[in-house]
Amino acid sequence: MGKLAITGGEAIRKKRFDPWPVFTETERAALEDVLTNRNWGGQPFPGKHTEAFGKKFAEYHTAKYGQTVNTGTVAIQAALKAIDIRPGDEVLVPAYTWEGTVGPVLLVNAVPIFVDVDPESYCMDAKQIESLLTPKTRAILPVHLGMRFADLDAIMAIAKKHNLKVIEDCAHVHGGMWRDKGAGSTGDLGAFSFQSSKLMTSGEGGAVITNNLEYFERVQSYINAGRRSVTDKYKKRLIGFNYRLGEFQAAILGPQLERLPEQGKVRQANMDYFESRIRGIQGIGLLKPEPRITRPAPYGYVLKYFAEQVKGIPRAAFVGALQLEGIPCDGLFYEPVYCSSLFPLDPNDFPALSWGRPKPLDLRNMYKCPESERAAYHEAVWFSHHLFLGSKADVDSIVNAMCKVMENIEEMRGLEHPAVKAQGQSRADRES
Ligand SMILES: Cc1ncc(COP(=O)(O)O)c(C=O)c1O
Repeated sequence: MGKLAITGGEAIRKKRFDPWPVFTETERAALEDVLTNRNWGGQPFPGKHTEAFGKKFAEYHTAKYGQTVNTGTVAIQAALKAIDIRPGDEVLVPAYTWEGTVGPVLLVNAVPIFVDVDPESYCMDAKQIESLLTPKTRAILPVHLGMRFADLDAIMAIAKKHNLKVIEDCAHVHGGMWRDKGAGSTGDLGAFSFQSSKLMTSGEGGAVITNNLEYFERVQSYINAGRRSVTDKYKKRLIGFNYRLGEFQAAILGPQLERLPEQGKVRQANMDYFESRIRGIQGIGLLKPEPRITRPAPYGYVLKYFAEQVKGIPRAAFVGALQLEGIPCDGLFYEPVYCSSLFPLDPNDFPALSWGRPKPLDLRNMYKCPESERAAYHEAVWFSHHLFLGSKADVDSIVNAMCKVMENIEEMRGLEHPAVKAQGQSRADRES
């Protein structure tokens, strides 16, 4: 029996963290309002709550127009349709992200081109973009991943130079600001998810924001089964699905948007405190500070684990041991998407992979993104945002557990435990 909980010792933390999501009587009243007014669906379009929320959400992110949709993946797909991505077009995506960033690109029969991430931010490395451009490149789809933004200054400059569109995947950054511009409003469009783990959630849901009326109208038509947009200035109908968000879901998003600034302050204060305590711990590294993020909105705290500094004990062991100490966290949160078990794809299902090429593109084997692979398989450790919505004592428990694991790391050598083993599988596969 060792000192660590994973080897039979007592766990540092026995109490669960406060659950996520949180709600108050305001959400209950909003749901009651939908229930009693009997307008539950998204039709006639837009519903009272979806319309009001879409406007407020866009405004909070310094954009003119906002449209709710039923998931974040649909938000990305609708944004791709808005900028008229056509079959065979190439769209640059970061290699290290959730698979859901990339699926919509393939589903419009476009071709994702993977860009490695910057090890300082774990977001798309803008320095690599120009070497990947071809005459078919039409758009860049950066993800503001974890707790950082992709370098929008560099990405927008490249987009301007090469006449490309930019869609920001903002699934991790509700309320965030880059140089005082809301997430999603620097690029041509921003796509958000309200899936249950996110900073704001309706269980499932999403939104697209933009400053461009034509794009907004195209999004509205596409997600409303091809009906005309409400303003219909550009007179364009797009074949689409019913991807509308229902009124119950929109109703509980309104109060969360009101709560977001206050939550943001608590979260940030706790994360700053966390960082002040973990800085300098042997085996732990921090992402580079980014002063251009003028309103942080981290989906999670993401740190670096350096096995070589702690006697070669792998990240899976560190994460497994921390979990048993009562601290929820994850290591293999995302794989480089090209390594995902979704691939290889059958080129017959995605014909654009073959067009104009001697052989169909093999998305699994044509890439090697060392920084994404390092982050995914060895280095990154993710802590959910909601762990930082509580007290300083909650934060102390995370740090104390980390210190305890580090002090007793030898106990982990060669240890076989289901929690460690689970880290050998990607989250997508674990959840499947
Ligand atoms: C980075 C990223 N992009 C896209 C998505 C897709 O969102 P959804 O699950 O709502 O379709 C998610 C979340 O799940 C995500 O984390």
